[in-house]
Amino acid sequence: MSAPDPASPDVPAEAWSGVHRGPLRPGEWIRLTDQKGRRHNFELVPGKRFFSNRGHIDHDELIGREEGFTVTSSAGGEYLCFRPLLSEFVVSMPRGAAVVYPKDAAQIVALADIFPGAHVVEAGVGSGALTCSLLRAVGPYGRVSSYERREEFAEVARRNVNQFFGAPEGETHPAWHLTLGDLAEALPASGERADRVILDMLAPWECLDATADALRPGGIVCAYVATTTQLSRFVETVRVHGGFTEPQAWESLVRDWHVEGLAVRPGHKMIGHTAFLVTARRMAPGERPPLKKRRPAPGAYGPDYAGPRPPGVPVEEPTG
Ligand SMILES: C[S@@+](CC[C@H](N)C(=O)[O-])C[C@H]1O[C@@H](n2cnc3c(N)ncnc32)[C@H](O)[C@@H]1O
Repeated sequence: MSAPDPASPDVPAEAWSGVHRGPLRPGEWIRLTDQKGRRHNFELVPGKRFFSNRGHIDHDELIGREEGFTVTSSAGGEYLCFRPLLSEFVVSMPRGAAVVYPKDAAQIVALADIFPGAHVVEAGVGSGALTCSLLRAVGPYGRVSSYERREEFAEVARRNVNQFFGAPEGETHPAWHLTLGDLAEALPASGERADRVILDMLAPWECLDATADALRPGGIVCAYVATTTQLSRFVETVRVHGGFTEPQAWESLVRDWHVEGLAVRPGHKMIGHTAFLVTARRMAPGERPPLKKRRPAPGAYGPDYAGPRPPGVPVEEPTG
């Protein structure tokens, strides 16, 4: 890739960032936000009109201007006009399956350490929201191999990813490889090796053997699961496998703040729960992590526990 030209207003096309600078041009997607905060995303087409309950705006009034302006519709409504950010695009794009929310995609990119040039495997691709963040992070010299077992979701993801990165007709992001199939079978069949494997699916434990075989030593597995039962089963399966470090599990809560004069307080509404994240690192072949010094909490693996049992953890006899 050549060095960026400081005189050129636009982001180099070879960066595949999905971002443009400079005047708005035909074919780009923009976002209008009205005075009540309602958002409208659409593609700029010369000669077309945007209609709302406050009249209309001609696309030609927007094309050629620098984003970040207020435009007034024919009936006097004021609209803020910007190009949508990735975090805004993924929550408004068409969905097949539930998406990874931007706050979690940010955690995945940072804490699963997705780097430029990385080879990342993900499943399932769902609507392609996380795929966009992964492709942004690995860049055109990396590789994101996405596995999806449902054709109709793969198609939704294809459209969303190509729209976000502005891929010309018949092309896609050069780092993206989408395979239709179940990761547990298709990944071993591919012979791929990976630096990172991200699992966003109902039963990620079913894909752990395939993940372990594909991951390079030091590589990271990261699972995104919605419920505590999934969280428990995945963590215990990683422990039982034995070829990973002790799994780390967490969730992130984001709370908006209302800041107005002396009224500075947490916002009244927040997204209470999205999902839990788990990461663990792959040991080298034949290596095991050190045995844990600490005993499990009393009752943790008691008679009511029916999940996978880590090595060295005896069945506790019922007390009383
Ligand atoms: C919650 S969605 C993924 C959402 C996606 N990460 C996003 O951000 O848009 C889960 C997807 O995993 C797919 N899936 C479930 N198990 C799978 C497997 N073993 N291999 C491949 N895809 C799988 C489902 O068909 C579904 O589309």
